Amino acid sequence: MKFNTLAIHSHQEPDPTTGAVITPIYQTSTFAQEDAGVHKGYDYSRSGNPTRSVLEGVLADLEGGKHGFCFASGTGALVTLCFALFKPGDHLIVGDDVYGGTYRFLTKVFQHYGVEIDFVDMTRLDNIASAIRPNTRMIYLETPTNPLLKLADIQGILELAKNKKLITCVDNTFATPYLQTPFDFGVDIVLHSTTKYIGGHSDVVGGALILRDDTYEESIRFHQNSIGATPDPFATWLTLRGLKTLGVRMKAHCQNATALAQFLEAHPLVDDVIYPGLPSHPQHEIAKRQMHNGFGGMISIRVKGGEAEARAFMKALKVFTLAESLGGIESLVEHPARMTHLAVEKSVRETLGITDNLIRLSVGIEDLEDLQADLENALKAMSQSQTRALA
Ligand SMILES: Cc1ncc(COP(=O)(O)O)c(C=O)c1O
Repeated sequence: MKFNTLAIHSHQEPDPTTGAVITPIYQTSTFAQEDAGVHKGYDYSRSGNPTRSVLEGVLADLEGGKHGFCFASGTGALVTLCFALFKPGDHLIVGDDVYGGTYRFLTKVFQHYGVEIDFVDMTRLDNIASAIRPNTRMIYLETPTNPLLKLADIQGILELAKNKKLITCVDNTFATPYLQTPFDFGVDIVLHSTTKYIGGHSDVVGGALILRDDTYEESIRFHQNSIGATPDPFATWLTLRGLKTLGVRMKAHCQNATALAQFLEAHPLVDDVIYPGLPSHPQHEIAKRQMHNGFGGMISIRVKGGEAEARAFMKALKVFTLAESLGGIESLVEHPARMTHLAVEKSVRETLGITDNLIRLSVGIEDLEDLQADLENALKAMSQSQTRALA
């Protein structure tokens, strides 16, 4: 079956007891047992729940993996991954501009457990190669990254990792399996913040780990239950409901974002437009190679000016809402330096290029004309506020 059919039908047979076409919300914490320890496969909802099992199965199928595991957030998935697969003394190589919350967990929490961590620019294979040590256990990357939309060459990284028998994990939140399937390159684990495109409606927080094969299944299952960062049945059901339209939504996100990126690139009040689908993107060739259905709905821009201009622009937007998060049907705008990446020290932000005039757009699936007019008007308002400030 192809992508949209899988999203709608995989693991989603009509309910055998009632014929319900849509998977029910099994809103129960516990399950009756016929005899002590004899049950129908479920004993307690932290360990497993039928609504969650369906979501875990569909996610695994869409990514082309073998096992799916759902969590209460993307961060819950990351914490479980780290505690399941590392021991003190191990070394982890991570992309240098990963999501601010990922950076915060790794530097402020996980590093205290004796794991050594190096943050590396994943656009350079030589950087990664020279960061590998005898105790390196995993290479963890986002591609495209958040918020600079840098791309890592998954194939190239896999060649490095395979030679040294390292685990590879790709945070596929920005691309989703509709655009990019890391298992095709031999990646071991895929992580998602399902809060974003997979849920797709900005109404539920969740996360997932998907495993290519059986290697880490037992350990992840054990830690999923032991750490307990599992989602409740209603949250899993909302995510499952959103997931059914992932393909349709991603297509619309990509169309809108491509058109807006071109519009912004030609605009005199915008200094930089970062979008993997633009030929000007430094890793555009990699994007064409590993993103098979489009380049996503995220655009980052640097407006002409500094923080004051960025604020004036964001304030003037009417259709784009100023809010954290991304990947929903509605367009959002955010200021990484003051919002999502505030947890990253200013000096680190500056080295990375998370400047005060950098703005991240999550392009929704509204009508293109309305989105473009909104950006145009806000840029005009920004330049008028500049003129007033100079007067
Ligand atoms: C790329 C990426 N990974 C992981 C996360 C963490 O996910 P959550 O917010 O669901 O914990 C986020 C959140 O913004 C993200 O953007």
